[in-house]
Amino acid sequence: MVFERPILIFILAFSTPTLVFSSSHYNFPIAKPNNPNCNDTCGHIQIPFPFGTTPECSFARQFRLTCNHTASDPPKLLWWNTNFEITDISLDGQFTLMKTIAHDCYQSNGVQSSNFSSGIRLRPHFTLNNTANKFTVLGCSAIAAFTGISLNQTFITAGAALCSSEADLSEGTCNGAGCFQIDIPTDVSEYDVVIMSLTNYTTTSGFSNCTYAFAVERSAFRFSKDNLTNLLPRQRLPVVVDWVIGNGTCQDARRNATGYACVNANTTCYHPTNGHGYRCRCEDGFEGNPYLPQGCIDINECLNDTLHDCNKKASCTNNIGNYTCTCPENYEGNGIGEDGCKWKSPKDMKIAYVLIGKNILSFITDLIMF
Ligand SMILES: *[C@@H]1O[C@H](CO)[C@@H](O)[C@H](O)[C@H]1NC(C)=O
Ligand SMILES: *[C@@H]1O[C@H](CO)[C@@H](O)[C@H](O)[C@H]1NC(C)=O
Ligand SMILES: *[C@@H]1O[C@H](CO)[C@@H](O)[C@H](O)[C@H]1NC(C)=O
Ligand SMILES: *[C@@H]1O[C@H](CO)[C@@H](O)[C@H](O)[C@H]1NC(C)=O
Ligand SMILES: *[C@@H]1O[C@H](CO)[C@@H](O)[C@H](O)[C@H]1NC(C)=O
Ligand SMILES: *[C@@H]1O[C@H](CO)[C@@H](O)[C@H](O)[C@H]1NC(C)=O
Ligand SMILES: *[C@@H]1O[C@H](CO)[C@@H](O)[C@H](O)[C@H]1NC(C)=O
Ligand SMILES: *[C@@H]1O[C@H](CO)[C@@H](O)[C@H](O)[C@H]1NC(C)=O
Ligand SMILES: *[C@@H]1O[C@H](CO)[C@@H](O)[C@H](O)[C@H]1NC(C)=O
Ligand SMILES: *[C@@H]1O[C@H](CO)[C@@H](O)[C@H](O)[C@H]1NC(C)=O
Ligand SMILES: *[C@@H]1O[C@H](CO)[C@@H](O)[C@H](O)[C@H]1NC(C)=O
Ligand SMILES: *[C@@H]1O[C@H](CO)[C@@H](O)[C@H](O)[C@H]1NC(C)=O
Repeated sequence: MVFERPILIFILAFSTPTLVFSSSHYNFPIAKPNNPNCNDTCGHIQIPFPFGTTPECSFARQFRLTCNHTASDPPKLLWWNTNFEITDISLDGQFTLMKTIAHDCYQSNGVQSSNFSSGIRLRPHFTLNNTANKFTVLGCSAIAAFTGISLNQTFITAGAALCSSEADLSEGTCNGAGCFQIDIPTDVSEYDVVIMSLTNYTTTSGFSNCTYAFAVERSAFRFSKDNLTNLLPRQRLPVVVDWVIGNGTCQDARRNATGYACVNANTTCYHPTNGHGYRCRCEDGFEGNPYLPQGCIDINECLNDTLHDCNKKASCTNNIGNYTCTCPENYEGNGIGEDGCKWKSPKDMKIAYVLIGKNILSFITDLIMF
């Protein structure tokens, strides 16, 4: 599933990511029910079905993860049987993977001290999220290539990071001086990062003697000139990966009920904009895990004012899948929005006036007390 240059697997085994991420918390069942062996967490990380740590607990082998209790406390959730840690899984179709970075480093005398090319093969159910990630190059004398497969096509894109003195660098900007960032193509299912250092870093060795290149979740990386020296060659950085449940279209998948995932009550099938395949989601008015039988549960919109638009005077009644707004007695309208409930028409009042005659004052008092 994953390829790394063999020597580097060795290095990876000893790396210790130091970043800590929080994960979202679900208030509904997320792992396979009726099976007490299906753990829904590994350490702090939640594992929603279709992901699972055993064949019985996962949808297919692509969604099998490893919870490694021996290496650390809390345990680490690892992608497949690799060394890549997963720090978050979203039922909207993303997970966050801690990925090694490529580097090319020189001693102050210009002799190369270490280098590493870092790639990953995600196919067939996974693609690199092109909006959440950026390809980033750090250094003072380098071109780095980001190359791989997008749909069935090979692609190559590259960025250059240059600088001659520390004064060239500015915090937070990646415009080519010490740091350069470029967009990731859509539908990338496999990639490799290759660094070509143009010089041997002898002229900048005081503040920069390595080139680093990596795809990274853009919100998790802000360039600082310190990063030219404080990034560790063994460091891992988060990348956001999109997942689909099946690699065909919804129409293709529906044709073979055996492997079709969106079969449960109140779920629908949809196509994400990136990647090849389909996902399931709960129908409007429901929330939960669309991949589990009975996984989508009704939302009680009436309990949360942001989820319903009943008029302030109206009463809100929750139904399975939606809700209704009802105006109080003596009001009319559909109950929705600011003008949803109107005081009953003046015609009725005129009639009341005629009928009540001189008792109009007590009528008005009654109205106010209503
Ligand atoms: C579930 O978690 C417990 C404790 O964390 C562990 O002992 C057990 O092996 C796990 N089961 C599976 C199937 O991973
Ligand atoms: C857990 O991690 C340790 C140390 O990295 C490794 O030796 C062991 O094989 C891993 N176990 C599993 C089940 O991956
Ligand atoms: C960078 O250079 C400094 C001294 O100039 C050296 O101590 C350090 O080990 C070098 N870093 C790498 C990764 O070679
Ligand atoms: C490093 O580059 C400098 C200038 O380009 C050159 O003089 C030197 O021989 C190079 N050193 C090595 C080890 O390649
Ligand atoms: C990719 O190739 C496969 C077979 O080689 C073909 O069936 C499929 O339509 C291709 N997909 C795209 C998006 O070109
Ligand atoms: C980059 O440097 C800043 C400032 O020292 C530091 O806070 C940040 O953690 C570094 N980034 C990474 C990815 O190490
Ligand atoms: C879909 O995935 C299966 C394996 O899971 C593979 O055999 C098949 O070729 C894939 N189809 C496409 C269009 O990628
Ligand atoms: C339907 O899907 C199942 C499981 O994915 C597979 O074993 C079977 O061959 C498929 N049948 C057809 C007709 O494609
Ligand atoms: C990429 O991830 C973001 C969340 O970080 C998500 O909103 C977006 O839909 C994802 N893109 C695709 C194509 O799935
Ligand atoms: C699915 O929705 C229907 C109404 O559309 C409702 O009767 C049923 O109970 C729902 N099923 C679940 C599992 O929520
Ligand atoms: C109400 O719904 C909104 C939107 O889904 C959500 O952000 C908010 O947390 C909810 N408030 C409560 C009290 O559940
Ligand atoms: C609310 O859901 C019911 C089925 O549960 C459906 O018959 C009705 O049309 C829905 N109302 C609206 C306004 O969507």
